[in-house]
Amino acid sequence: MRRCLRPETIRIEVERSLRRLGTETIDLYQTHWQAVPPDATPIADTMACLLDLKAQGKIRAIGVSNASPSQMDEYRAAGALDSLQPRYSMLNRAIEEDILPYCRAHGISVLAYSPLEQGLLTGAIGMERSFGEQEIRSMGPWFRPANRRRVLDLLAGWKDLTDAHGCTLGQLAIAWTLQQPGLTFALCGARKARHAVENAAAGDLILSAADLARLRRDVEALGAPL
Ligand SMILES: NC(=O)c1ccc[n+]([C@@H]2O[C@H](COP(=O)([O-])OP(=O)(O)OC[C@H]3O[C@@H](n4cnc5c(N)ncnc54)[C@H](OP(=O)(O)O)[C@@H]3O)[C@@H](O)[C@H]2O)c1
Repeated sequence: MRRCLRPETIRIEVERSLRRLGTETIDLYQTHWQAVPPDATPIADTMACLLDLKAQGKIRAIGVSNASPSQMDEYRAAGALDSLQPRYSMLNRAIEEDILPYCRAHGISVLAYSPLEQGLLTGAIGMERSFGEQEIRSMGPWFRPANRRRVLDLLAGWKDLTDAHGCTLGQLAIAWTLQQPGLTFALCGARKARHAVENAAAGDLILSAADLARLRRDVEALGAPL
């Protein structure tokens, strides 16, 4: 797989997506990883293609994923950017430094992926769980035993909050994520239908300013993975 974002491949992929989805228009179309050499399509060329697809009514809104502020500057200079899909969770807050402020300043919606830190923040992944070499989680620093122990201890300290709100740890993490300034949506992964239902219900959970501040203090005190 190459990260190219060439107009001619995007056009083919959009047609295939429309066919597979059985629809005439895609509400939000996002470029996934940004193009890299040896096939680094200029962002202006990609945007020209997306604007044309929008004019044809095949897509309704244009977004990007994993893009830096300077890449978003280029997209905006060539057209209009509606959304960004970055990685963001209580345990992975790097975008707070420059990317979230950038999106707030320019009215770009933010759809956070991996808000449950690939399941770790649900508390369901205990010390005994192991991951195959091919599983992305086997490479994640928070999943290493010493760090996983620290996260599980942190989660155990939030029992009074989950009791008070009648929610699960996963719902607490999703609600915290959604209530951060500039956040629009949390893209939660799920393998079981009941998990999808549980995760969606987190959209109704409103945390107080005191709860939000306490959770932030706790995750900041945890620091970076060892
Ligand atoms: N743009 C990008 O580069 C990019 C990259 C990665 C992901 N994404 C998108 O973001 C979405 C979410 O990413 P993610 O899967 O990493 O996110 P996540 O929501 O942080 O973690 C999902 C995992 O958490 C566990 N889980 C979910 N709900 C649960 C629940 N209610 N109770 C217990 N465990 C639960 C499941 O783990 P188990 O498998 O252990 O059951 C599930 O596979 C993906 O579907 C994908 O579309 C985008």
